[in-house]
Amino acid sequence: RPPTIIAPSLLSCDFGRLAEESKRMVELGADWLHVDVMDGHFVPNLTLGPPIVQSLRRHTPAFLDCHLMVAQPARWVADFAAAGASMFTFHLEAVECGQAAVRQLIGAVHAAGMLCGLTIKPGTPVEQLLPYLEAGLPDMVLIMSVEPGFGGQAFQPSTMDKVRFLRSRFPDLYIEVDGGLAPSTIQQAADAGANAIVAGSAVFGAPDPGAVICQLRGAVDA
Ligand code: DX5
Ligand code: ZN
Repeated sequence: RPPTIIAPSLLSCDFGRLAEESKRMVELGADWLHVDVMDGHFVPNLTLGPPIVQSLRRHTPAFLDCHLMVAQPARWVADFAAAGASMFTFHLEAVECGQAAVRQLIGAVHAAGMLCGLTIKPGTPVEQLLPYLEAGLPDMVLIMSVEPGFGGQAFQPSTMDKVRFLRSRFPDLYIEVDGGLAPSTIQQAADAGANAIVAGSAVFGAPDPGAVICQLRGAVDA
């Protein structure tokens, strides 16, 4: 299994204190910062875009793990690269023109100098990722464990079957999980084989976020 990555989701932080909260999370042991980009169209919520990522980048050298919950993700590759995004993860459901378009988009993300992640919603079959994984194209897959759009939702255990399936076939793959991860649910993700853990409300809502980061890491490392 690849290294354990704990990625607090900034969606749950005070956006008015984005830079301070980001620095605090890194000091408390976060490996990556997860940035949820929503367009009010692909998902029924609206968050932030390249200008905010660019501003945040001026305050931290941290790995910015950008999760694009937007229609037409190809439109935003250049802007996110220029803003300083480290990882550009897009939804397979957001690409309407089939496999060739997905391959082309992964290529464009790499050409722009970012790592590329592919993600699927809970209702999308995991097999849809296989053509790209067998070709070794994405750097990471993100298996959503809630319906994208909002923080603080309940973890869907059935989505871990997808993680188990992928881990059995791709031992070195970066497999990220996102949604409802907390000390109470982390064991299921760890057992299934996830190595990258996104957690929003569980981290930012805790009196001691550092302890939560530590607990999540401990479960995955064990
Ligand atoms: C949901 C986002 C998640 C969200 C997770 O659409 O992709 O990253 O912030 O929040 P929690 O950990 O609270 O479920
Ligand atoms: Zn996310």
